[in-house]
Amino acid sequence: MLTVDKLQKNFGPIDAVRNISFDLKKGDVLGFLGPNGAGKSTTMRIITGYLQPSGGTATVNGFDIGKQSVAARRQLGYLPENAPVYQDMTVQHFLNFIAEIRGFRGNERRRRVDRIMDICKIEPVRRQSVDTLSKGYRQRVCFAQAILHDPPILIMDEPTDGLDPNQKAIVRQMILDMAQTKAIIISTHILEEVDAVCNRTIIISRGRIVAQGTPAELKQRSPSHGAVTLELTETPDSVMADLETLPSAKRVEPADNHCFTIYPRDPVKLFQDVMNQARRRSWTIKSISVKEGRLEDTFHALTQTGDNAS
Ligand SMILES: Nc1ncnc2c1ncn2[C@@H]1O[C@H](COP(=O)(O)OP(=O)(O)O)[C@@H](O)[C@H]1O
Ligand SMILES: [Mg+2]
Repeated sequence: MLTVDKLQKNFGPIDAVRNISFDLKKGDVLGFLGPNGAGKSTTMRIITGYLQPSGGTATVNGFDIGKQSVAARRQLGYLPENAPVYQDMTVQHFLNFIAEIRGFRGNERRRRVDRIMDICKIEPVRRQSVDTLSKGYRQRVCFAQAILHDPPILIMDEPTDGLDPNQKAIVRQMILDMAQTKAIIISTHILEEVDAVCNRTIIISRGRIVAQGTPAELKQRSPSHGAVTLELTETPDSVMADLETLPSAKRVEPADNHCFTIYPRDPVKLFQDVMNQARRRSWTIKSISVKEGRLEDTFHALTQTGDNAS
């Protein structure tokens, strides 16, 4: 549904986007991750036709965003960063206006606007002017304009930024509700969001893709993936050495109350090796668990190589 091919963008000497390629199919929710200044918004602005690329192309449902801009943009809904909405319009006026420029008239326009207010739960504020809305409502009004024409492809730039936990949950649920029938990109630096809604992830740093995969695959690249946390009933003298000498162990970190975290050299074998060692030494295990790894650790490891912000 969306093909991005070798996109590049420079602002004078700044290479904001360097050679970014990926494609999306129906049902994909892509989490576009990266520190501030990594190039997320610039990439999204190019895909949505708001910026010309310095190189490369984006094709939206078969239409080239540069050469067939209007046709391509009909396929897209776009929620820009910071939800820009005309401040002095009421919610209803604003959505009627958006419906008209999307080509809907009469009953069709009314039906669309009513439906979208219902989906986005903004009915209670329909007569309020946008500048009097709370951030959560303003974000949902902007969300409403992005999906009013029911586009197959949705591009959302930090859709939950600055919202409280309840409002975040509402927006995430709206994204999940639409996920089956659309292709969606959301940029974020909230890593839990990726776990909650995305089936794919791209991490970018300084304009480049530095990793991609499912959230689970990226977690596996974190140093704590496969680490074993072991709690014993007492701490025998040789326990540190007995754990450190396991070939599948890399490093052992002791903690209070007879607890140890063993980091893996071989995450597949470590758990069984620890169990076998415990049996050999007759340790009594109070609890043992394996860590799946943290997206946050992978993110840090891959994006701390230099300053992203200019
Ligand atoms: N219009 C612009 N003019 C000059 N530099 C820009 C412009 N827009 C973005 N940049 C720069 O491009 C880089 C990427 O920015 P951006 O895409 O906004 O990053 P992100 O959305 O990941 O935080 C940053 O260094 C930013 O300062
Ligand atoms: Mg941005």
